[in-house]
Amino acid sequence: MAKNNNRPVIHARHLTRIYRLGDSEVIGINDIGLDIAPGELVVLKGNSGSGKSTLLSLIAGLDRPTHGFLNVADHNLTQATSPDLTYFRRKVVGMVFQSFNLMPTLNVLENACLPGLLAGKSADQVTSKAMGLLDWLGLSTRWNHLPAQLSGGEMQRTAIARALINDPDIILADEPTGNLDSRNGQIVVELFAELNRNWNRTVIIATHSDIADSVASMTICLKDGAITDQTCDI
Ligand SMILES: Nc1ncnc2c1ncn2[C@@H]1O[C@H](COP(=O)(O)OP(=O)(O)OP(=O)(O)O)[C@@H](O)[C@H]1O
Ligand SMILES: [Mg+2]
Repeated sequence: MAKNNNRPVIHARHLTRIYRLGDSEVIGINDIGLDIAPGELVVLKGNSGSGKSTLLSLIAGLDRPTHGFLNVADHNLTQATSPDLTYFRRKVVGMVFQSFNLMPTLNVLENACLPGLLAGKSADQVTSKAMGLLDWLGLSTRWNHLPAQLSGGEMQRTAIARALINDPDIILADEPTGNLDSRNGQIVVELFAELNRNWNRTVIIATHSDIADSVASMTICLKDGAITDQTCDI
Protein backbone atom coordinates (compact mmCIF):
# COMPACT_ATOMS: atom_id res chain seq x y z
CA MET A 1 0.00 0.00 0.00
CA ALA A 2 1.31 3.49 -0.82
CA LYS A 3 2.55 5.43 2.15
CA ASN A 4 1.11 8.83 2.92
CA ASN A 5 3.63 10.63 5.08
CA ASN A 6 1.03 13.11 6.32
CA ARG A 7 -0.78 10.28 8.01
CA PRO A 8 0.29 9.04 11.43
CA VAL A 9 2.12 5.75 11.27
CA ILE A 10 0.39 4.79 14.51
CA HIS A 11 -3.19 5.89 15.10
CA ALA A 12 -5.20 4.72 18.11
CA ARG A 13 -8.62 5.73 19.41
CA HIS A 14 -10.26 4.52 22.62
CA LEU A 15 -7.68 1.74 22.68
CA THR A 16 -8.41 -0.54 25.61
CA ARG A 17 -7.03 -3.88 26.80
CA ILE A 18 -8.68 -5.50 29.78
CA TYR A 19 -7.28 -8.77 31.08
CA ARG A 20 -9.83 -11.19 32.49
CA LEU A 21 -8.67 -13.43 35.31
CA GLY A 22 -11.56 -15.66 36.35
CA ASP A 23 -14.27 -13.31 37.57
CA SER A 24 -12.01 -10.30 37.96
CA GLU A 25 -10.77 -7.81 35.41
CA VAL A 26 -7.41 -6.02 35.29
CA ILE A 27 -7.01 -2.89 33.20
CA GLY A 28 -3.91 -3.06 31.00
CA ILE A 29 -4.62 0.17 29.12
CA ASN A 30 -7.81 2.19 29.12
CA ASP A 31 -9.23 4.48 26.40
CA ILE A 32 -5.95 5.58 24.84
CA GLY A 33 -5.98 8.02 21.91
CA LEU A 34 -2.67 8.43 20.15
CA ASP A 35 -1.14 9.67 16.89
CA ILE A 36 2.52 9.11 16.10
CA ALA A 37 3.99 10.58 12.92
CA PRO A 38 6.52 8.62 10.84
CA GLY A 39 10.09 9.21 11.95
CA GLU A 40 9.41 10.00 15.60
CA LEU A 41 11.55 8.60 18.38
CA VAL A 42 9.01 8.06 21.13
CA VAL A 43 9.92 7.36 24.73
CA LEU A 44 7.03 5.65 26.50
CA LYS A 45 7.33 6.19 30.22
CA GLY A 46 5.40 5.22 33.30
CA ASN A 47 5.69 3.29 36.54
CA SER A 48 5.65 -0.47 36.72
CA GLY A 49 2.13 -1.64 35.87
CA SER A 50 1.19 1.59 34.05
CA GLY A 51 0.55 -0.27 30.75
CA LYS A 52 3.73 0.25 28.69
CA SER A 53 4.17 -3.41 27.69
CA THR A 54 0.44 -3.78 27.06
CA LEU A 55 0.45 -0.85 24.63
CA LEU A 56 3.63 -2.03 22.87
CA SER A 57 2.22 -5.57 22.50
CA LEU A 58 -0.89 -4.17 20.79
CA ILE A 59 1.17 -1.99 18.44
CA ALA A 60 3.38 -5.01 17.70
CA GLY A 61 0.38 -7.17 16.78
CA LEU A 62 1.29 -9.62 19.56
CA ASP A 63 -2.03 -9.03 21.33
CA ARG A 64 -5.48 -7.71 20.40
CA PRO A 65 -7.43 -4.86 21.97
CA THR A 66 -10.54 -5.54 24.02
CA HIS A 67 -12.04 -2.55 22.26
CA GLY A 68 -11.06 0.61 20.45
CA PHE A 69 -9.31 1.17 17.13
CA LEU A 70 -5.66 0.70 16.17
CA ASN A 71 -4.05 1.33 12.80
CA VAL A 72 -0.29 0.80 12.38
CA ALA A 73 1.49 1.55 9.08
CA ASP A 74 -1.76 1.31 7.13
CA HIS A 75 -2.69 -2.00 8.75
CA ASN A 76 -5.98 -2.07 10.63
CA LEU A 77 -4.96 -4.22 13.60
CA THR A 78 -8.45 -4.15 15.07
CA GLN A 79 -9.79 -6.28 12.24
CA ALA A 80 -6.66 -8.24 11.34
CA THR A 81 -6.90 -12.01 11.02
CA SER A 82 -4.23 -14.24 12.56
CA PRO A 83 -2.37 -14.63 9.21
CA ASP A 84 -2.53 -10.82 8.77
CA LEU A 85 -0.93 -10.39 12.18
CA THR A 86 1.77 -12.96 11.43
CA TYR A 87 2.68 -11.07 8.24
CA PHE A 88 2.55 -7.76 10.12
CA ARG A 89 4.87 -8.98 12.90
CA ARG A 90 7.41 -10.28 10.40
CA LYS A 91 7.49 -7.39 7.97
CA VAL A 92 6.26 -4.18 9.57
CA VAL A 93 7.59 -4.13 13.13
CA GLY A 94 10.80 -5.24 14.80
CA MET A 95 10.72 -5.99 18.52
CA VAL A 96 13.48 -5.83 21.10
CA PHE A 97 12.87 -7.10 24.64
CA GLN A 98 14.48 -6.59 28.03
CA SER A 99 15.45 -10.27 28.29
CA PHE A 100 16.78 -10.48 24.69
CA ASN A 101 14.72 -13.64 23.89
CA LEU A 102 17.45 -15.21 21.74
CA MET A 103 17.24 -18.88 20.73
CA PRO A 104 19.90 -20.51 22.97
CA THR A 105 20.87 -23.24 20.50
CA LEU A 106 21.37 -20.86 17.56
CA ASN A 107 24.47 -18.73 17.12
CA VAL A 108 24.46 -14.95 16.64
CA LEU A 109 24.22 -15.13 12.85
CA GLU A 110 21.47 -17.77 12.96
CA ASN A 111 19.47 -15.78 15.52
CA ALA A 112 19.76 -12.66 13.37
CA CYS A 113 18.72 -14.56 10.20
CA LEU A 114 15.74 -16.41 11.63
CA PRO A 115 12.91 -13.89 10.93
CA GLY A 116 14.27 -13.37 7.39
CA LEU A 117 14.13 -17.11 6.67
CA LEU A 118 10.65 -17.32 8.22
CA ALA A 119 9.60 -14.51 5.88
CA GLY A 120 10.60 -16.72 2.94
CA LYS A 121 13.76 -14.93 1.84
CA SER A 122 16.69 -16.89 0.43
CA ALA A 123 19.44 -17.98 2.84
CA ASP A 124 22.08 -16.13 0.78
CA GLN A 125 20.15 -12.87 0.81
CA VAL A 126 19.39 -13.10 4.54
CA THR A 127 22.95 -14.09 5.49
CA SER A 128 24.49 -11.19 3.63
CA LYS A 129 22.00 -8.74 5.13
CA ALA A 130 22.65 -10.16 8.64
CA MET A 131 26.44 -9.91 8.24
CA GLY A 132 26.05 -6.24 7.28
CA LEU A 133 23.91 -5.59 10.34
CA LEU A 134 26.28 -7.50 12.64
CA ASP A 135 29.17 -5.46 11.28
CA TRP A 136 27.30 -2.19 12.00
CA LEU A 137 26.51 -3.48 15.50
CA GLY A 138 30.15 -4.38 16.24
CA LEU A 139 29.45 -8.12 16.28
CA SER A 140 31.26 -9.34 13.18
CA THR A 141 33.80 -11.26 15.27
CA ARG A 142 31.01 -12.85 17.35
CA TRP A 143 28.85 -14.23 14.53
CA ASN A 144 29.42 -17.89 15.49
CA HIS A 145 29.01 -17.45 19.26
CA LEU A 146 26.02 -18.94 21.06
CA PRO A 147 24.02 -16.52 23.26
CA ALA A 148 25.57 -18.09 26.40
CA GLN A 149 28.99 -17.02 25.07
CA LEU A 150 28.02 -13.33 24.81
CA SER A 151 27.90 -10.36 27.17
CA GLY A 152 24.52 -8.75 27.89
CA GLY A 153 25.28 -5.86 25.54
CA GLU A 154 26.27 -8.29 22.77
CA MET A 155 23.07 -10.29 23.31
CA GLN A 156 20.96 -7.14 23.01
CA ARG A 157 22.81 -6.03 19.86
CA THR A 158 22.15 -9.51 18.39
CA ALA A 159 18.46 -9.01 19.20
CA ILE A 160 18.60 -5.63 17.42
CA ALA A 161 20.07 -7.31 14.31
CA ARG A 162 17.23 -9.84 14.44
CA ALA A 163 14.67 -7.03 14.77
CA LEU A 164 16.09 -5.29 11.69
CA ILE A 165 16.57 -8.25 9.35
CA ASN A 166 13.26 -7.70 7.52
CA ASP A 167 13.71 -3.92 7.28
CA PRO A 168 10.73 -2.96 9.47
CA ASP A 169 9.53 0.65 9.41
CA ILE A 170 8.81 0.56 13.13
CA ILE A 171 11.10 -0.62 15.93
CA LEU A 172 9.48 -1.34 19.29
CA ALA A 173 11.74 -1.81 22.30
CA ASP A 174 10.33 -2.87 25.66
CA GLU A 175 12.73 -1.87 28.46
CA PRO A 176 15.70 -2.68 26.18
CA THR A 177 18.31 -1.47 28.66
CA GLY A 178 16.74 -3.09 31.73
CA ASN A 179 19.30 -5.90 31.90
CA LEU A 180 22.32 -3.82 30.87
CA ASP A 181 24.83 -1.73 32.79
CA SER A 182 24.63 2.00 32.15
CA ARG A 183 27.40 2.04 29.51
CA ASN A 184 25.84 -0.75 27.45
CA GLY A 185 22.43 0.83 28.00
CA GLN A 186 23.73 4.10 26.51
CA ILE A 187 25.21 2.20 23.53
CA VAL A 188 21.85 0.55 22.84
CA VAL A 189 19.96 3.86 23.14
CA GLU A 190 22.44 5.49 20.74
CA LEU A 191 21.87 2.65 18.23
CA PHE A 192 18.13 3.30 18.33
CA ALA A 193 18.76 7.02 17.90
CA GLU A 194 20.96 6.28 14.87
CA LEU A 195 18.29 4.03 13.37
CA ASN A 196 15.84 6.86 13.79
CA ARG A 197 18.12 9.64 12.55
CA ASN A 198 19.96 7.96 9.70
CA TRP A 199 17.57 5.20 8.64
CA ASN A 200 14.39 7.18 9.29
CA ARG A 201 12.74 4.44 11.33
CA THR A 202 9.96 5.18 13.77
CA VAL A 203 11.18 3.98 17.16
CA ILE A 204 9.28 3.50 20.43
CA ILE A 205 11.27 2.77 23.56
CA ALA A 206 9.32 1.82 26.70
CA THR A 207 11.27 2.42 29.86
CA HIS A 208 10.78 3.55 33.41
CA SER A 209 14.29 5.03 33.49
CA ASP A 210 15.44 8.37 32.07
CA ILE A 211 18.15 6.76 29.90
CA ALA A 212 16.49 7.64 26.57
CA ASP A 213 15.10 11.08 27.50
CA SER A 214 17.83 12.99 25.66
CA VAL A 215 17.11 11.28 22.29
CA ALA A 216 13.29 11.49 22.43
CA SER A 217 11.38 13.57 19.88
CA MET A 218 8.14 12.73 21.71
CA THR A 219 7.46 11.50 25.25
CA ILE A 220 4.29 9.68 26.25
CA CYS A 221 3.58 9.19 29.93
CA LEU A 222 1.27 6.43 31.10
CA LYS A 223 -0.40 6.26 34.48
CA ASP A 224 -2.82 3.49 35.46
CA GLY A 225 -3.26 2.50 31.81
CA ALA A 226 -4.03 6.00 30.51
CA ILE A 227 -1.98 8.78 28.97
CA THR A 228 -1.35 11.53 31.48
CA ASP A 229 -0.54 15.15 30.65
CA GLN A 230 1.28 15.51 33.92
CA THR A 231 5.06 15.47 33.78
CA CYS A 232 6.42 11.95 33.92
CA ASP A 233 7.06 11.77 37.60
CA ILE A 234 8.40 8.27 38.03
N1 LIG B 1 -1.34 -11.26 30.93
C1 LIG B 1 -1.84 -10.49 31.89
N2 LIG B 1 -2.88 -10.92 32.65
C2 LIG B 1 -3.43 -10.13 33.62
N3 LIG B 1 -2.99 -8.88 33.90
C3 LIG B 1 -1.96 -8.41 33.19
C4 LIG B 1 -1.33 -9.17 32.16
N4 LIG B 1 -0.33 -8.42 31.62
C5 LIG B 1 -0.34 -7.27 32.30
N5 LIG B 1 -1.31 -7.24 33.23
C6 LIG B 1 -1.65 -6.13 34.12
O1 LIG B 1 -1.87 -4.98 33.31
C7 LIG B 1 -1.30 -3.82 33.91
C8 LIG B 1 -0.30 -3.19 32.96
O2 LIG B 1 0.80 -4.09 32.84
P1 LIG B 1 2.04 -3.82 31.88
O3 LIG B 1 2.84 -5.06 31.85
O4 LIG B 1 1.54 -3.30 30.60
O5 LIG B 1 2.81 -2.66 32.67
P2 LIG B 1 4.25 -2.02 32.41
O6 LIG B 1 4.07 -0.54 32.42
O7 LIG B 1 4.87 -2.65 31.22
O8 LIG B 1 5.05 -2.44 33.72
P3 LIG B 1 6.64 -2.75 33.92
O9 LIG B 1 7.35 -1.42 33.96
O10 LIG B 1 6.69 -3.45 35.26
O11 LIG B 1 7.09 -3.63 32.80
C9 LIG B 1 -0.70 -4.28 35.23
O12 LIG B 1 -1.64 -4.02 36.27
C10 LIG B 1 -0.51 -5.77 35.05
O13 LIG B 1 -0.61 -6.44 36.28
MG1 LIG C 1 6.57 -3.77 30.92
